[in-house]
Amino acid sequence: MVKEITRFSFPVSIIYGSGSIGELPGEFKDLGVKKPLIVTDPMMEKTDAFKSILKVLEEKSIDYKVFSGVQPNPHDVDVENGVAVYKTDGCDFIIGVGGGSPMDAAKALAVLVGEGGDIADYDAQSSTKKEIAGPLPKIILIPTTAGTGSEVGKCSVISSTSQGRKIFLCHSLMVPARAVLDPELTVSLPPYLTAATGMDALTHNIESLTAPVFHPMCDGIAVKGIELVVKNLEKAVKDPSDIEARGYMMLAAMMGAVAFQKDLGTAHSLSHALSAVCNLQHGLANAIVLPFVMDYNKEVSKKEYAIIAREFGVNTFGMDELEASEKAIEEVRALNKRIGLPESLKEVGVKEEQLDEIGGKAFLDPCHYTNSRSCTQDDLMTLLKEAF
Ligand SMILES: [Fe+2]
Repeated sequence: MVKEITRFSFPVSIIYGSGSIGELPGEFKDLGVKKPLIVTDPMMEKTDAFKSILKVLEEKSIDYKVFSGVQPNPHDVDVENGVAVYKTDGCDFIIGVGGGSPMDAAKALAVLVGEGGDIADYDAQSSTKKEIAGPLPKIILIPTTAGTGSEVGKCSVISSTSQGRKIFLCHSLMVPARAVLDPELTVSLPPYLTAATGMDALTHNIESLTAPVFHPMCDGIAVKGIELVVKNLEKAVKDPSDIEARGYMMLAAMMGAVAFQKDLGTAHSLSHALSAVCNLQHGLANAIVLPFVMDYNKEVSKKEYAIIAREFGVNTFGMDELEASEKAIEEVRALNKRIGLPESLKEVGVKEEQLDEIGGKAFLDPCHYTNSRSCTQDDLMTLLKEAF
């Protein structure tokens, strides 16, 4: 690889720690911004975590506007509605607060404010996509779950209302100016969502570690991210007030997203399609399909899976890499079980007659292009049937 020129970049400024939302006013000053549009969803708006952020702004008499019209798996219309509020209310930057949906919506909103047009114009998969030239409004992202890692990413996934599929927008200008990781904001997250979002973080770290892209820095980050999930996810699920475990899970989620600038894999193609067809929570879909995808990949990814087995505490002495890989897969299944997540798609209401449509959409999703082992549409259908 030394003969190829590679660029590495880790551009987001991250503020981490209990109470770190208190740093916001100072950051506004540094960034030279005055009136944020706070982008969130209707559930989040009602939480104490959200109110604690508003309190920080009000104590410093900072003017703001809240837009809480982001639905789960955010749609293009949500983003368009947010743009209208941003313009009407004279906002000059954007804060995304919540899980992946508000944060992705915040990034897409910045694109439409800065560039105009529709979400579909910036579809990363389209050969006729419009270039994002900037400038875009500055963005601060504040996650309230530990899973998606969208707070450090340059991409946004938005559902097209007219096309019934997910559209990817990706550009370095979409990278937020700051990510504020305050574990206090995650303590009220219910155990089931803590578990599902945590498995999303684990899937990011595992899929990026095995993606066939040269990026040794991301590989190192992914391995540490896996270790943090293994040591802390179950603790955070079983004791929601364990602020140490919550903090480490926020770091693991952020690290997974830094690592997946390498790219993701087949578990994400399947989970994107499962969310699009069945509205399944993203992390839950990943949690269910991940062991099946790992089993499919194990011959090709056995070296990395052996590392994962060791991060789970398996003594791999005397095992060959394939045996260690089997142990890693067993450990992922066992973790799912310990944190109360289901094993099959059937258990979460997916219908057998939906599998063809899910398989078709998964094949169109680009994440599997960087899976360690290539997949045909038939391979994806087989994986779906196994996970069903
Ligand atoms: Fe994900």
